[in-house]
Amino acid sequence: MSAGEKRHTVTFEINGARKTVAVEARRLLVHLIREDLGLTGTHVGCDTSQCGACTVEIDGRAVKSCTVLAVSAEGASITTIEGLTSPGAELDPVQAAFHEHHALQCGFCTPGMVMSVRQLLKDQPDPSDHEIRHGLAGNICRCTGYHNIVRAVESLASKGEQS
Ligand code: FES
Ligand code: FES
Repeated sequence: MSAGEKRHTVTFEINGARKTVAVEARRLLVHLIREDLGLTGTHVGCDTSQCGACTVEIDGRAVKSCTVLAVSAEGASITTIEGLTSPGAELDPVQAAFHEHHALQCGFCTPGMVMSVRQLLKDQPDPSDHEIRHGLAGNICRCTGYHNIVRAVESLASKGEQS
């Protein structure tokens, strides 16, 4: 931020905690989440809004947080990957399915992928293979070839365990 640049106060809820922070007008939400709040489970994998690694939930909808200005989070309720479970608690069903079906390798895409799967299952509780691949088209994985990710999502659909 350049010296003297005006900051704006923003109040929102993130993972159940109320926060008030001062941000410059052009600051992106993903940088607020990672750098100001230290929630580094939300990743940055591109600068073209294509990879989906930065996906979080804003008011219950999956959104690429690199496409959102931090100031627009005023009054919002945000959930990041850290908000899906806590140490010692059970994993979120999507996280558990990824684990069970080996749906990650390096894990870089996984936080954003999990948030997008949650959205996919809200929108389509019993998606076909094609619908899963289409629904996750905004999330890029360089490791898995997507096959096990699709299997993990199918397992949730067939069990009716979508979150
Ligand atoms: Fe947001 Fe890649 S960092 S889409
Ligand atoms: Fe490595 Fe998806 S598991 S990018």
